[in-house]
Amino acid sequence: MRAMAVRCLITAGPTREFFDPVRFLSNPSSGRMGYALAAAARDAGWTVDLVSGPVSLPEPSGVMLYPVVTAEEMMRQADALFGPCDVLLMCAAVSDWRPASRHASKLKKDGRGLTVELEPVPDILAALSARRRPGQVLVGFAAETEDVEANAVAKLAKKGVDLVAANSVAGPDGAFGSEDNAVLLVGRDGFRRRLGPASKSEVARLLVAEVALRLPSR
Ligand code: C5P
Repeated sequence: MRAMAVRCLITAGPTREFFDPVRFLSNPSSGRMGYALAAAARDAGWTVDLVSGPVSLPEPSGVMLYPVVTAEEMMRQADALFGPCDVLLMCAAVSDWRPASRHASKLKKDGRGLTVELEPVPDILAALSARRRPGQVLVGFAAETEDVEANAVAKLAKKGVDLVAANSVAGPDGAFGSEDNAVLLVGRDGFRRRLGPASKSEVARLLVAEVALRLPSR
Protein backbone atom coordinates (compact mmCIF):
# COMPACT_ATOMS: atom_id res chain seq x y z
CA MET A 1 0.00 0.00 0.00
CA ARG A 2 1.32 3.45 -0.92
CA ALA A 3 1.74 5.90 1.99
CA MET A 4 -0.49 8.98 1.75
CA ALA A 5 1.37 12.24 1.18
CA VAL A 6 1.75 14.54 4.15
CA ARG A 7 -0.70 17.48 3.85
CA CYS A 8 0.83 20.77 4.87
CA LEU A 9 -1.01 24.05 5.40
CA ILE A 10 1.17 27.15 5.28
CA THR A 11 0.19 30.77 5.84
CA ALA A 12 2.46 33.51 4.57
CA GLY A 13 2.82 37.24 4.12
CA PRO A 14 1.11 40.15 5.81
CA THR A 15 -2.59 40.92 6.11
CA ARG A 16 -4.18 44.27 5.27
CA GLU A 17 -6.82 45.79 7.49
CA PHE A 18 -8.73 48.58 5.75
CA PHE A 19 -10.41 51.62 7.28
CA ASP A 20 -11.65 52.90 3.92
CA PRO A 21 -11.55 51.34 0.43
CA VAL A 22 -7.97 52.48 -0.26
CA ARG A 23 -6.23 52.76 3.13
CA PHE A 24 -5.08 50.02 5.41
CA LEU A 25 -2.92 48.94 8.35
CA SER A 26 -0.28 46.31 7.56
CA ASN A 27 3.36 45.33 8.17
CA PRO A 28 6.49 44.86 6.05
CA SER A 29 6.36 41.05 5.80
CA SER A 30 7.54 40.05 2.31
CA GLY A 31 6.14 36.51 2.47
CA ARG A 32 9.57 35.12 1.51
CA MET A 33 9.89 32.81 4.51
CA GLY A 34 6.43 31.32 3.99
CA TYR A 35 7.03 30.86 0.26
CA ALA A 36 10.41 29.23 0.99
CA LEU A 37 8.63 26.89 3.39
CA ALA A 38 6.06 26.05 0.71
CA ALA A 39 8.84 25.15 -1.73
CA ALA A 40 10.71 23.11 0.90
CA ALA A 41 7.55 21.24 1.91
CA ARG A 42 6.76 20.53 -1.76
CA ASP A 43 10.34 19.31 -2.30
CA ALA A 44 9.91 16.97 0.67
CA GLY A 45 7.04 15.38 -1.27
CA TRP A 46 4.28 16.98 0.79
CA THR A 47 0.98 18.27 -0.56
CA VAL A 48 0.99 22.00 0.12
CA ASP A 49 -1.84 24.49 0.62
CA LEU A 50 -0.44 28.02 0.79
CA VAL A 51 -2.71 30.73 2.17
CA SER A 52 -1.02 34.00 1.32
CA GLY A 53 -1.59 37.62 2.13
CA PRO A 54 -0.64 40.24 -0.50
CA VAL A 55 2.99 39.74 -1.59
CA SER A 56 5.04 40.45 -4.72
CA LEU A 57 6.42 36.96 -5.16
CA PRO A 58 5.93 34.54 -8.04
CA GLU A 59 3.39 31.80 -7.45
CA PRO A 60 5.36 28.72 -6.36
CA SER A 61 4.86 25.75 -8.66
CA GLY A 62 3.37 22.56 -7.36
CA VAL A 63 1.43 24.08 -4.47
CA MET A 64 -2.20 25.19 -4.12
CA LEU A 65 -2.22 28.96 -3.61
CA TYR A 66 -5.12 30.66 -1.81
CA PRO A 67 -4.69 34.45 -1.97
CA VAL A 68 -6.32 36.43 0.85
CA VAL A 69 -6.11 40.05 1.97
CA THR A 70 -7.48 40.52 5.48
CA ALA A 71 -6.97 38.52 8.67
CA GLU A 72 -10.66 37.63 8.54
CA GLU A 73 -10.21 36.09 5.06
CA MET A 74 -7.04 34.31 6.18
CA MET A 75 -8.87 32.88 9.17
CA ARG A 76 -11.76 31.57 7.05
CA GLN A 77 -9.44 30.03 4.46
CA ALA A 78 -7.09 28.46 7.02
CA ASP A 79 -10.06 27.18 8.98
CA ALA A 80 -11.45 25.47 5.87
CA LEU A 81 -8.12 23.75 5.12
CA PHE A 82 -7.00 22.88 8.65
CA GLY A 83 -9.05 19.70 9.32
CA PRO A 84 -7.23 17.29 6.99
CA CYS A 85 -3.77 18.86 7.29
CA ASP A 86 -0.96 16.97 9.03
CA VAL A 87 1.29 20.00 9.42
CA LEU A 88 0.45 23.66 10.01
CA LEU A 89 3.20 26.22 9.47
CA MET A 90 1.60 29.49 10.59
CA CYS A 91 4.18 31.85 9.14
CA ALA A 92 1.90 34.78 8.24
CA ALA A 93 2.47 38.14 9.89
CA VAL A 94 -1.17 38.60 10.82
CA SER A 95 -2.10 42.11 11.83
CA ASP A 96 -2.79 42.17 15.55
CA TRP A 97 -5.33 44.99 15.28
CA ARG A 98 -7.76 46.15 12.68
CA PRO A 99 -9.88 49.28 12.34
CA ALA A 100 -13.12 48.79 14.27
CA SER A 101 -15.07 50.10 11.27
CA ARG A 102 -14.50 50.54 7.55
CA HIS A 103 -15.87 53.54 5.71
CA ALA A 104 -17.73 52.60 2.56
CA SER A 105 -16.21 55.49 0.60
CA LYS A 106 -12.75 57.10 0.56
CA LEU A 107 -12.30 59.46 3.50
CA LYS A 108 -11.71 63.08 2.42
CA LYS A 109 -8.85 64.91 4.07
CA ASP A 110 -9.78 68.21 5.67
CA GLY A 111 -6.42 69.35 7.04
CA ARG A 112 -7.16 67.89 10.46
CA GLY A 113 -5.94 64.72 12.13
CA LEU A 114 -7.81 61.46 12.00
CA THR A 115 -8.39 59.04 14.85
CA VAL A 116 -8.97 55.42 13.87
CA GLU A 117 -10.19 53.09 16.55
CA LEU A 118 -8.54 49.66 16.41
CA GLU A 119 -9.89 46.37 17.70
CA PRO A 120 -7.93 43.13 18.22
CA VAL A 121 -7.88 40.58 15.43
CA PRO A 122 -8.80 37.03 16.50
CA ASP A 123 -5.75 34.79 16.98
CA ILE A 124 -5.99 32.38 14.04
CA LEU A 125 -3.31 29.99 15.33
CA ALA A 126 -4.76 29.75 18.84
CA ALA A 127 -8.22 29.09 17.37
CA LEU A 128 -6.91 26.32 15.10
CA SER A 129 -4.78 24.68 17.80
CA ALA A 130 -7.83 24.58 20.10
CA ARG A 131 -9.36 22.03 17.72
CA ARG A 132 -6.23 20.15 16.69
CA ARG A 133 -6.30 16.40 16.09
CA PRO A 134 -3.78 13.98 17.60
CA GLY A 135 -0.86 13.52 15.21
CA GLN A 136 -0.98 17.02 13.72
CA VAL A 137 2.23 19.02 14.05
CA LEU A 138 1.68 22.74 14.57
CA VAL A 139 4.36 25.38 14.23
CA GLY A 140 3.99 29.02 15.21
CA PHE A 141 6.32 31.84 14.29
CA ALA A 142 7.46 34.71 16.42
CA ALA A 143 8.89 37.96 15.16
CA GLU A 144 10.40 39.62 18.19
CA THR A 145 12.32 42.79 18.81
CA GLU A 146 13.58 41.66 22.25
CA ASP A 147 13.85 38.59 24.53
CA VAL A 148 13.55 36.29 21.53
CA GLU A 149 13.96 32.99 23.40
CA ALA A 150 11.74 33.79 26.40
CA ASN A 151 8.98 35.09 24.14
CA ALA A 152 9.23 32.02 21.90
CA VAL A 153 8.98 29.62 24.84
CA ALA A 154 5.97 31.50 26.25
CA LYS A 155 4.30 31.25 22.86
CA LEU A 156 4.46 27.41 22.83
CA ALA A 157 1.82 27.14 25.54
CA LYS A 158 -0.08 30.30 24.69
CA LYS A 159 -0.68 29.15 21.11
CA GLY A 160 -0.88 25.41 21.82
CA VAL A 161 1.80 24.49 19.28
CA ASP A 162 4.62 21.93 19.13
CA LEU A 163 7.30 24.24 17.84
CA VAL A 164 7.88 27.97 17.67
CA ALA A 165 10.31 29.39 15.12
CA ALA A 166 11.48 32.73 16.42
CA ASN A 167 13.53 35.40 14.79
CA SER A 168 14.58 38.89 15.58
CA VAL A 169 13.05 41.66 13.56
CA ALA A 170 15.01 44.32 15.41
CA GLY A 171 17.39 46.60 13.57
CA PRO A 172 18.45 46.79 9.93
CA ASP A 173 19.34 43.05 9.76
CA GLY A 174 15.91 41.93 10.91
CA ALA A 175 14.13 39.16 9.04
CA PHE A 176 11.32 41.24 7.51
CA GLY A 177 11.92 41.49 3.78
CA SER A 178 15.44 40.12 3.97
CA GLU A 179 16.81 37.26 1.80
CA ASP A 180 18.44 35.54 4.79
CA ASN A 181 17.16 34.43 8.12
CA ALA A 182 18.31 32.95 11.42
CA VAL A 183 15.71 31.16 13.45
CA LEU A 184 15.68 29.81 16.96
CA LEU A 185 13.44 26.77 16.96
CA VAL A 186 12.04 25.89 20.38
CA GLY A 187 9.85 22.97 21.32
CA ARG A 188 8.06 21.61 24.34
CA ASP A 189 10.37 19.42 26.52
CA GLY A 190 13.18 21.98 26.23
CA PHE A 191 14.08 21.36 22.58
CA ARG A 192 16.25 24.17 21.15
CA ARG A 193 17.95 24.41 17.78
CA ARG A 194 19.35 27.33 15.82
CA LEU A 195 18.61 27.20 12.09
CA GLY A 196 20.92 29.49 10.13
CA PRO A 197 21.96 32.20 9.59
CA ALA A 198 21.37 30.98 6.04
CA SER A 199 19.17 31.72 3.07
CA LYS A 200 15.46 31.50 3.78
CA SER A 201 15.39 28.41 1.47
CA GLU A 202 17.98 26.64 3.60
CA VAL A 203 16.30 27.61 6.88
CA ALA A 204 13.00 26.37 5.40
CA ARG A 205 14.58 23.04 4.41
CA LEU A 206 15.96 22.54 7.93
CA LEU A 207 12.64 23.46 9.51
CA VAL A 208 10.66 21.07 7.31
CA ALA A 209 13.14 18.30 8.23
CA GLU A 210 12.59 19.01 11.96
CA VAL A 211 8.82 18.86 11.48
CA ALA A 212 9.12 15.59 9.54
CA LEU A 213 10.84 14.01 12.56
CA ARG A 214 7.75 14.79 14.65
CA LEU A 215 5.16 13.28 12.31
CA PRO A 216 3.67 9.98 13.40
CA SER A 217 4.97 7.08 11.28
CA ARG A 218 2.60 6.43 8.38
O1 C5P B 1 1.25 36.59 19.28
P1 C5P B 1 2.14 36.74 18.08
O2 C5P B 1 1.53 37.60 17.01
O3 C5P B 1 3.54 37.13 18.38
O4 C5P B 1 2.24 35.25 17.51
C1 C5P B 1 2.78 34.97 16.27
C2 C5P B 1 2.19 33.68 15.74
O5 C5P B 1 0.77 33.70 15.86
C3 C5P B 1 2.48 33.49 14.28
O6 C5P B 1 2.54 32.11 14.00
C4 C5P B 1 1.27 34.16 13.63
O7 C5P B 1 1.05 33.67 12.32
C5 C5P B 1 0.16 33.77 14.57
N1 C5P B 1 -0.94 34.74 14.68
C6 C5P B 1 -2.22 34.36 14.33
N2 C5P B 1 -3.26 35.24 14.45
C7 C5P B 1 -3.05 36.50 14.89
C8 C5P B 1 -1.76 36.91 15.27
C9 C5P B 1 -0.72 36.02 15.13
O8 C5P B 1 -2.40 33.21 13.93
N3 C5P B 1 -4.08 37.33 14.98
